Amino acid sequence: MKPVILDVDTGLDDACALLLAARHPELDLKAVTCVGGNVGIDQVVVNTLTVLDAAGRPDVPVARGASLPFLQPVRTAPHVHGADGLGDLDWPKSIRTADARHAVELLRDVLLEAARTGELVTLIPLAPMTNIALLLRTYPEAAAGLREIVFMGGAAGIGNATASAEFNIWTDPEAAAITLTAASELGVRVTMYGLDVFYDVVISLAEAKALSGSPSADLARRLIERRSELYRSDDGASIGDGGAVCAVIDPSGLTTLPFPLRVELSGSWSRGRTIVDTRDWAGDLTTDPHGVAPPVVQVATAVDGRRYADLWLATVR
Ligand code: BDR
Ligand code: CA
Repeated sequence: MKPVILDVDTGLDDACALLLAARHPELDLKAVTCVGGNVGIDQVVVNTLTVLDAAGRPDVPVARGASLPFLQPVRTAPHVHGADGLGDLDWPKSIRTADARHAVELLRDVLLEAARTGELVTLIPLAPMTNIALLLRTYPEAAAGLREIVFMGGAAGIGNATASAEFNIWTDPEAAAITLTAASELGVRVTMYGLDVFYDVVISLAEAKALSGSPSADLARRLIERRSELYRSDDGASIGDGGAVCAVIDPSGLTTLPFPLRVELSGSWSRGRTIVDTRDWAGDLTTDPHGVAPPVVQVATAVDGRRYADLWLATVR
């Protein structure tokens, strides 16, 4: 089994990711950490506990993390996820409470234990990376417990929160920049599952309708139906963040290429953009005053959407 930790801002598509990670037999979900993003942090915690209950996994520790980005106010996304972040489905809320530790402390504890046992953990951030930046700068020794980081965020092409920037990076650009720089310094491999592939793992409404018979399947159906409504789509909906978990379970369904990457921290119209440097560095680029960005990230350029949709359906069913 592959040990994994999810860092989430649950979120309809974070919920799709949680159901998959909690139920897939080849994943060992060690912990889930929460950060403010799609909704405020308190609601993220409730949503996360609720989804794990539906998945039949009340054993998984869930910790509350950063409520605010480093430098800017939190900006939520009720137009994408509903006022409560879970599509206002009226799904019964969990009565479980979060772990007493802060998310950064839970991450540190799990990762130091992984470093001790050698069972290295894949960290899957699906939200603004505030917790991850805090972890890598506060407890860099915890990186010894990391196998790799596979994050949802960014784009080589167009954004969604703005024309330039993807929501998770745009919400806390400093956190993304710190995370990528620290990971590069600490020798941690990073994969970016960005908007270039994010929308390509689609569940049709007919496939969603066929999901029933367990709390996990029922919730999965309602997530897809609600996401389709919010996107005003008759063709179903993508599992969004869930695709990044598919990429950890079945990496051969994802095409990636290594590119130097920087996060735009200023810019009038481009703050939060991931600048993916696809230039041919074998040519003469010596006149570029910026040079090559030190962090080199595996950037997802294509995904086998049908394969990942089938993987998700088979697991949440
Ligand atoms: C990302 O932002 C959030 O709205 C989703 O949960 C996903 O993580 C997409 O830009
Ligand atoms: Ca998310």
